[in-house]
Amino acid sequence: MQELMEQKQHDESKQGEAFLPAESVLTHYEKHFYIESYGCAMNFADSEVVASILMADGFGATNDFQSADLILINTCSIREKAEERVRKRLTEFRQLKRQKPGLVIGVLGCMAERLKAAFLEEEKLVDIVVGPDAYRSLPSLVEEANGGQKSVNVLLSRDETYADISPIRLNSNGVNAFVSIMRGCNNMCSFCVVPFTRGRERSRDAYSIVHECEALFNDGFREVTLLGQNVDSYHWTSADNKETVTFAQLMEKVALISPLLRVRFSTSHPKDITDDVLFTIKKYENICNYIHLPVQSGSSRVLQMMNRTYSREWYISKVNRIREILPDCGLSTDMIAGFCTETEEEHQESLTLMEYCRYDLAYLYFYSERPGTLAARRFEDDVPLPVKKRRLQELVDLYRNHSLISMQKDVGKTYKVLVEGVSKKDADYLYGRNEQNKVIVFPKENHQKSDYVMVHVHDCTAGTLLGNVIK
Ligand code: SAM
Ligand code: SF4
Ligand code: F3S
Repeated sequence: MQELMEQKQHDESKQGEAFLPAESVLTHYEKHFYIESYGCAMNFADSEVVASILMADGFGATNDFQSADLILINTCSIREKAEERVRKRLTEFRQLKRQKPGLVIGVLGCMAERLKAAFLEEEKLVDIVVGPDAYRSLPSLVEEANGGQKSVNVLLSRDETYADISPIRLNSNGVNAFVSIMRGCNNMCSFCVVPFTRGRERSRDAYSIVHECEALFNDGFREVTLLGQNVDSYHWTSADNKETVTFAQLMEKVALISPLLRVRFSTSHPKDITDDVLFTIKKYENICNYIHLPVQSGSSRVLQMMNRTYSREWYISKVNRIREILPDCGLSTDMIAGFCTETEEEHQESLTLMEYCRYDLAYLYFYSERPGTLAARRFEDDVPLPVKKRRLQELVDLYRNHSLISMQKDVGKTYKVLVEGVSKKDADYLYGRNEQNKVIVFPKENHQKSDYVMVHVHDCTAGTLLGNVIK
């Protein structure tokens, strides 16, 4: 079940898929890399930076790992399950390595950063281990591996943002793109491994972000999602100290590129989201009315142990403010069931908070202790697994009721939809999303990918709105 919810996380349906850039013509290159990505959207965005670095070094991309000279796996450490998935995949690559000794296998991302050189000990077939801030060194590490030298580069940086690298869009639909605006995290939530795997928070040059979004728009893209672990703490200062840009100002700059470019963002932190951000969303029609505001727990005591630095009441006041300023705003969350010492009453508080907030979307997990985190060092992981799973199921059941009600409330309404492609179930239908991030399916007629259409909703399922284009 945890698996099921993870699948949905930020397009995690793509977990482990191989990604091929549209422009890659396999025969043009003598050597090829294959990359598989796991984890959050930021990891998927990083794989596009990696593709750019490797293609500049003469590698072509392939989606057939059997024919690759270099296999890369961009990993996630957020929960134990995520790491298990990667290890299982590595055993499959081991077979191939036996038949093809010249094959180079590299582990990238958060698991590489967490395990460092130990990875080479634990997984003998791995040749290179590269952390999230060391991707520029990939070409030289691959060369060393070709010469028989195993190597590790897991140096974290205080200033690397890959701002000057134009990501190669992998497996893109040509409509939506992720754009990293910052890296790392300074928050130290006690359950979370990210500050250790991604390092200190740093904001990317605002103008490099705007230029990347402009280039995407000129290439036909119509939606960008600005990514960071805590976008509200984005804060960039120019080298001459004369200009600073906050997240609200950055969103405005991106929104002004064109009214035809939709702007989304993730993730917002309840302690940092400001009225400025909410009023900027309100001011621009092309900034989507949708906020991912993870709460993690409905109990103030548990939140304190999680080091989230806000209380239940603070979170509720933020939700109230969102509803006041942006009455049509879609709202989603992340929640963890069964964190250390969580009582039944505190679990009930998570359920009542969910009842209050009525999320349109929720990513729900049971607590998975991560080595080295504050919680692992300070607290006992004392909620038994069956209890964690039962509590998670209760959250899932309540969320499913709410999300169905939220879908049903949309029947009879009309939404502006950005067309993203042909429906997987029926080629005569297209799909897209409304501002609130809900998927809408409708008859194709003469409409095309990247069009904006007004769709009247006449029905819904648990996860999809069904409608007809009215203009
Ligand atoms: N930066 C985001 C924030 O602060 O909300 C979240 C980033 S994390 C990549 C995504 C989600 O994974 C978290 O919101 C949390 O719900 C979940 N998560 C993180 N560590 C976890 C753990 N040790 N066990 C279970 N879930 C965890
Ligand atoms: Fe992890 Fe907390 Fe940072 Fe999110 S804000 S990445 S949960 S430490
Ligand atoms: Fe996973 Fe690292 Fe993202 S731990 S969720 S890939 S930041």
